[in-house]
Amino acid sequence: MGISTLLLPLLLTCGWTESLSLYTSDGRSPRLALEKSLSWPSKDMQCQHMLKHLRNGARITVQMPPNIEGHWVSTSCEVRPGPEFITRSYRFYHNHTFQAHQFHYTDNHCTAPAYTLVIWGRLRLRQASWIIRGGTEADYQIHRIQAVCHTMATAKELNHRLERTCGGEKEPGPWEPNIMYELWSEEGGCDCSRGLNFAMHELQLLRVEKQYLHHNLDHLVEELFLGDIHTEPAQRMYYRPSSYQPALQNAKSHDQSCIACRIISRSDEFHPPILPPRADLTVGLHGQWVSQRCEVRPEVLFLTRHFIFHDNNNTWEGHYYHYSDPVCKHPTFSIYARGRYSRGVHSMRVMGGTEFVFKVNHMRVMPMDLATTSLLNVFNGNECGAQGSWQVGVEQDVTPTNGCVALGIRLPHTEYELFRMEQDAHGRYMLYNGQRPSDGSSPDRPEKRATSYQMPLVQCSASSQRPEVTLGHHADRPRKQSNGSWGGGHSSIVQVVALVVLNVLVMELCG
Ligand SMILES: *[C@@H]1O[C@H](CO)[C@@H](O)[C@H](O)[C@H]1NC(C)=O
Ligand SMILES: *[C@@H]1O[C@H](CO)[C@@H](O)[C@H](O)[C@H]1NC(C)=O
Ligand SMILES: *[C@@H]1O[C@H](CO)[C@@H](O)[C@H](O)[C@H]1NC(C)=O
Repeated sequence: MGISTLLLPLLLTCGWTESLSLYTSDGRSPRLALEKSLSWPSKDMQCQHMLKHLRNGARITVQMPPNIEGHWVSTSCEVRPGPEFITRSYRFYHNHTFQAHQFHYTDNHCTAPAYTLVIWGRLRLRQASWIIRGGTEADYQIHRIQAVCHTMATAKELNHRLERTCGGEKEPGPWEPNIMYELWSEEGGCDCSRGLNFAMHELQLLRVEKQYLHHNLDHLVEELFLGDIHTEPAQRMYYRPSSYQPALQNAKSHDQSCIACRIISRSDEFHPPILPPRADLTVGLHGQWVSQRCEVRPEVLFLTRHFIFHDNNNTWEGHYYHYSDPVCKHPTFSIYARGRYSRGVHSMRVMGGTEFVFKVNHMRVMPMDLATTSLLNVFNGNECGAQGSWQVGVEQDVTPTNGCVALGIRLPHTEYELFRMEQDAHGRYMLYNGQRPSDGSSPDRPEKRATSYQMPLVQCSASSQRPEVTLGHHADRPRKQSNGSWGGGHSSIVQVVALVVLNVLVMELCG
């Protein structure tokens, strides 16, 4: 469980109270005005600028506790592990009930509707999450599940899938298109939803963010993040979310450039949204790509990423900046990784996806706070850089020690990746890479390759040439990926001991 296990106590002990204070209800930061007046950075500095901007977290505010009343819709065709292609339209009412539409498709651009589920239930917000800072926990209860198929072919398939799970006379159907069937209800009857591998556990973790778009103080976009779905479909029913799916937007105030939002918000179970057809873009990795927001990984890691791909010699570099808080303000450590990658081939499993193999053979680590530095210094021998030599803000090459046991990272490391590329409404290229396995392991075998994606990175430079940047002590230094990559490592006794030490340390620091 590597890094995340190690950092957990840190996150739990430190900064909770402090994080709450970040959540002001008003998003009008004075920084907005300030930044407007600064001159735009030169082309070369664009990537650094974008990351820095994120780190400052100026434009996003988090509502605690979240007010989720209203109508929320997907902003694009979403890919769930499996893969499944869906769009969502969820309504939360004042009386704490909800009605959720999940539209399922047979294609990766959501142009061919297959069937729609309508879920009715009740949701109760609980407390701020102790595990995922910035998130709120909730309980839900389902009252009723209904389904409509949109084609003859899907009706046949559902007949087949549901026969095996509900059986007997209670089974709805035989299925026909455009007729509403009840899969389950409180009043009893059999539960036919199992055949669809259906769960609403995403409602157990919520977060609402408000963001002013394009520096425009008149245009406030609200986003609702719901819990993630386990990457292993068989685990879906048993998984409590520990990160998020792509955000839904409030249908009333969605980004005007979001065509999908508009189409989805006007749909219902008999008129499923049909998104505009698009061509699959060929994945061209060349250039530089950065995170668009502070990302959260299962098991409590907050991070931003910056990748550089050199098409000419098939090498790549990755910077991973880790933080202790959900708006990426307080750096904990950074990793820089480097290696080679293969040419991509079309995925047979995930429509629209392209497969790559990534190797990591070089890595540097820089602790950026006292707690992480102390943690690294606890390790003995040749397991993570020179023993006892770590200092805050000083980067070390850990390639000679084959990575860093403390961070659960071993070199050399290979990962089996899935990518797809898209162009957003403003014509910018967006790069999606595979979701990391929810069990904290790494996709180090072909059969562990992702079937869904992480949040997209945006292209910040079409050139892979990076200017040498002089970095301050809290600077953007690279981070890297490696053998266990995030969380791929295995907890050892050493790590557990380190945890205890770290815990004490952290309490002193925060106390
Ligand atoms: C809750 O409110 C919704 C929308 O106003 C309504 O349709 C529903 O019947 C209400 N449910 C209960 C249990 O009051
Ligand atoms: C690959 O190409 C890039 C850009 O031309 C260069 O900076 C880098 O050093 C090269 N790497 C290797 C291993 O040749
Ligand atoms: C990752 O590290 C483990 C543990 O040291 C090692 O057995 C394995 O071969 C490594 N995997 C790769 C792909 O390098």
